[in-house]
This record gives sequence, structure tokens and C-alpha cells, in this order.
Amino acid sequence: MGQAQSTRIAGEAGLLRQAWAVLQPPSVSALYGLLGARPFTGRGMWLNLGHWRDARSIDQACPALAQLVGEAAGLGPADTVVDVGFGFADQDMLWAERFAPQRIIGLNITPLHVRLARARVRRRGLADRIDLREGSATAMPLPDACCDVVTAVECAFHFDTRADFLAEAMRVLRPGGRIVLADIIPAAPAGGALRRRWQSASWRALARALSVPRANADTRDAYAARFAAVGFEGVSVEPIGDEVFPGFHQALREDEAFFARLPASARLAYRPLLRIEAGDVYAGLDYVLAFARKPG
Ligand SMILES: C[S@@+](CC[C@H](N)C(=O)[O-])C[C@H]1O[C@@H](n2cnc3c(N)ncnc32)[C@H](O)[C@@H]1O
Repeated sequence: MGQAQSTRIAGEAGLLRQAWAVLQPPSVSALYGLLGARPFTGRGMWLNLGHWRDARSIDQACPALAQLVGEAAGLGPADTVVDVGFGFADQDMLWAERFAPQRIIGLNITPLHVRLARARVRRRGLADRIDLREGSATAMPLPDACCDVVTAVECAFHFDTRADFLAEAMRVLRPGGRIVLADIIPAAPAGGALRRRWQSASWRALARALSVPRANADTRDAYAARFAAVGFEGVSVEPIGDEVFPGFHQALREDEAFFARLPASARLAYRPLLRIEAGDVYAGLDYVLAFARKPG
């Protein structure tokens, strides 16, 4: 092979590598780093779809989801909580103020979230009860049996992998400890071939946009089995999608200020979906509230 030909091939390979890097979904911490300090809510800095059973706005629905998780976990003054994927720590401040656990240790892999959340917690006078650290849900920088509760509000779908996170949660929980997740998984296929294709396309679109690892595409039964596989007992996986997706979709349709707060790329992708009913837009997704206990 001549010099000119090998230079050309090396150049083409370089271009291919660059194109592949651009087409690859970003890592989760790069994704949130790119989104910056852009919350969904006007009040607080929440980043979840919200629980809409009694909420009328995104500002009510996001804290309502944290309240639901706090109640499901039975949080109380005796508890040390490990909260992974805390966003900007609104949920931790809400739990500290409403449930008064002894201590909350937050772990997050996005440095920007850790920095801003720490400053917010300090300003709210809660730094002695909420300790926020950089760290991953799948390799927690924490000793064995150090907490009573592990929580993950709308983030476990990101973890690489969710199964590794469950094993870590089992390790850091004391015997008898509880785990509660608000999580998004693919819906079990239902309906005719066309409907199933649409379901699968809508899950794939979400998974790509949110950098969800393939290994996390468990539907409800397989999802529950993952908890049992690492030794949890009393596993319950409650579908609450009807109290999440329609309210979120309706709010995006009606609340212009909320829609405008989404990143430009999300607005572009979501705008055509506003004309479609929530039942169709979210046909491929299941939203679950999961609870389990470490034996002991
Ligand atoms: C959709 S946001 C949810 C934030 C918050 N729970 C809320 O409800 O407002 C997901 C959060 O999970 C964090 N996260 C993603 N992967 C993580 C991992 N492997 N370990 C720890 N945090 C992670 C992100 O940095 C982000 O803060």
C-alpha cells in the first residue's frame, strides 16, 4: 500500500470515529452536565415527571412524587437514608423537613448537581443533616450495613446497571432495611403488531434520549425478579403510570412556561407529540413505585 493510500485510509477512519462519537448517546453525567442548571419547575429545581393524583401543576407534582416515595419508605427520625440520583436535592430537603430522618447521605455522579445542591442545602440550613457526595449508585463509596433506607427517585433507569445498583443497595442496607424506587421501565407488549412496534419504538426513543443501558429494559415481572435475585424480600412493584404520564403530558400542553423550560432538543422532539393523547405517547412506558426489604 502506498503512503498516499494509507494516509487517506487513516483520515477516513478518523472521520468515522468522530462521526460515531457524535452519534453515540452521551454518558449520563455528560447529559446532565449539558442540560446545566435547568429544572422542570418554576419553584425549586426538580427534575422528575411528578405524581399528579392531587397535583394541578408541575410545581406541585414534583414534590408530590418525593412525598409518595418518603411515605412508601416509611421515613422517620430513626433512619439514615442513602439517596442516589438526588438531582438538585429538593427531595432531600423535603424529607428532612417533613419526615426528619436522622441523616441523609446523597450520591450523584453529575458534579454540577452535587455542587449546586450542596450550596442550596447549606442556604436552607440543612447541611448538618444532609451530606451530599459525588459517587455512583453502582459503586457506592460507603461501608457495608450503614443505612436503613435506600431511595432513588426517577433515576435508576440510568444506572449502569440497575442490577448492580440493587446489589450495592443490598450491601449498604442494614438487615431489615428498606429500598424504594420511583422508576421508568418498558411496558409489557400489548395489543396488535402495530401497537407493539410503536411501544417498542417509544421505549427505544426514551432509552436513547436518556442514555438508558440496554440491560435496564426489564418489564415489570423481570424488574421485580431483579430485587429477589440479590436477596430482597417483600418485593412490591406498583404501576403508577396513570398518576404520572397523563398529568405530565397535560401540563406540557397547557403550561407554556413549563414547556419553555425544557431544553431546546426536548422541545423539538416533544412538540409533535403534544397533539397525541398521553395513552399513545407513553404506550411503551411503565412508571413504577417499587418497595423491598433486606431480610433480617
Ligand atoms: C431525572 S434526574 C432526577 C433528579 C431528582 N431525583 C428529582 O426527582 O428531581 C436523575 C439524577 O440521577 C443522577 N444519576 C444518574 N446516574 C447516576 C448514577 N449512576 N449514580 C448516581 N446518580 C446518578 C443524575 O445526575 C441526576 O441528578
